[in-house]
Amino acid sequence: MLKRSLATAALALAATAVFAHQGVQNPAVMARMHSMMGLDKDLKLMISMAKGEIAMDASAAQAAALRIQRGTPQISPLFQAPETDPKSEALPAIWDEFDTFTALARDLEKAAAKAAPTIQDRPTLAQATAYIGGACRACHKRYRQQNK
Ligand code: HEC
Repeated sequence: MLKRSLATAALALAATAVFAHQGVQNPAVMARMHSMMGLDKDLKLMISMAKGEIAMDASAAQAAALRIQRGTPQISPLFQAPETDPKSEALPAIWDEFDTFTALARDLEKAAAKAAPTIQDRPTLAQATAYIGGACRACHKRYRQQNK
């Protein structure tokens, strides 16, 4: 189970290894990408710690999960206007289904809030990370261009 959670978390990391934000012209697109980068930084910290690449520190990991929780309310407002850029990976369906998009942002907020206090050691961190990463992927799968 632990192994599986770690594998899932590692996949989440691999899926976000390449960033589109270099060369973005539209500041509104840049702003939403920056917000994503902030979430990514904290998830990566949790992944590195779960994998043992950096020392386990439960309170630092909880703080990262709580920063993700606090960062999520800005997702919906940042994406509300249907802004585009040649470098954007956002799919047009976001603006046809903005309620669903917003609900997926809310799911991430709830996942991070639920997972944060469960983090005590590496196994519980691995589980929390996979749980939060799953909420990121649920939205990316539907609303972010893949393989770009
Ligand atoms: C409600 C939907 C949603 C959720 C939840 C979400 N994302 Fe995203 N994310 C997107 C969309 C849409 C894009 C593409 C934005 C664009 O290119 O205009 C994106 C882009 C990104 C990018 C690329 C940014 C860049 O500079 O190219 C990263 C990294 C990222 N997300 C990480 C995360 C992480 C980590 C989480 C969870 C902690 C997360 N996202 C949760 C919708 C979401």
